[in-house]
Amino acid sequence: MDRPAVPRVFLADGVDVPALGLGTWHMGESAASRRHEVDALREGITRGLALVDTAEMYGDGGAEEVVAEALEGVREQCFVVSKVLPQHASARGVASACERSLARLRIDRLDLYLLHWRGSVPLAETVRAFEALRRDGRIARWGVSNFDVDDIEELFALPEGRHCTVNQVLYHLGERGIEWALADLCRRHRISIMAYSPFDEGRLLGHRALRAVAARIHATPAQVALAWLVARKVIAIPKAAHIRHVDDNAAAAALHLSDATLRELDNAFPPPSRATPLAMI
Ligand SMILES: NC(=O)c1ccc[n+]([C@@H]2O[C@H](COP(=O)([O-])OP(=O)(O)OC[C@H]3O[C@@H](n4cnc5c(N)ncnc54)[C@H](OP(=O)(O)O)[C@@H]3O)[C@@H](O)[C@H]2O)c1
Repeated sequence: MDRPAVPRVFLADGVDVPALGLGTWHMGESAASRRHEVDALREGITRGLALVDTAEMYGDGGAEEVVAEALEGVREQCFVVSKVLPQHASARGVASACERSLARLRIDRLDLYLLHWRGSVPLAETVRAFEALRRDGRIARWGVSNFDVDDIEELFALPEGRHCTVNQVLYHLGERGIEWALADLCRRHRISIMAYSPFDEGRLLGHRALRAVAARIHATPAQVALAWLVARKVIAIPKAAHIRHVDDNAAAAALHLSDATLRELDNAFPPPSRATPLAMI
């Protein structure tokens, strides 16, 4: 049976990536779960969710090692994202954290490297370090995570700040704060939004209104939550350590939400009516 192609999102440099990828938070934390985590990621890559989001923080490097196993023989098909912790965001810190991540991932270049969240290191220093890694070919591009409007404006005031490609933020049906201003600001600067915790770590999937919409259109709550994000032209990175969940999420690629369904979702999960600070997990 033909499987539907996963929709793509174009980054500012013209490279296109799958709009549905794979999260890895809480992977690599226990040896007992490792096999099924690797299998779940392999299944996702095979199903076209060929963008893996990881971080040096996850499992204290363990998640990157799980990703390394999942990438064996399929590295070229997959877009690999990792993140540097703010306490490693100095010039030397970024360079050595990146080398450690590459070693754990067993690859020689990251497709995207993100600052996980802002810390005390001046942004200009981190940006210079990212640019040096880009020139050296250790990363193809860089971005940020958990950056609110003020942070993006500060970033774009820096000489090389405009090379930022992605802002990875908390975004799902139940948390639409970025729609007030941040999403538009990012679009104007050609920064793609990557939506993390698209199921609110699973909590969203039990929501009555979401379940009702899903039942009416013969889909699962997870598929509706993902199709809604895809319709908003963002990249969603659901985490699923179980193959049945990966398969369920991959099937969201074929789900088109009608205008009537989108209106119903807007009623149940209203867009923001005022500015609020960026929500984070
Ligand atoms: N930049 C940041 O600060 C930041 C913060 C948080 C997350 N992230 C990234 O975003 C990724 C996703 O976010 P998240 O891990 O917080 O949570 P999430 O993707 O919103 O939810 C994950 C939970 O949903 C379950 N699940 C997945 N697919 C399902 C399905 N089809 N049906 C029912 N349950 C399903 C998973 O179960 P199983 O695992 O048991 O299959 C897991 O318990 C992370 O893994 C990480 O890569 C980034």
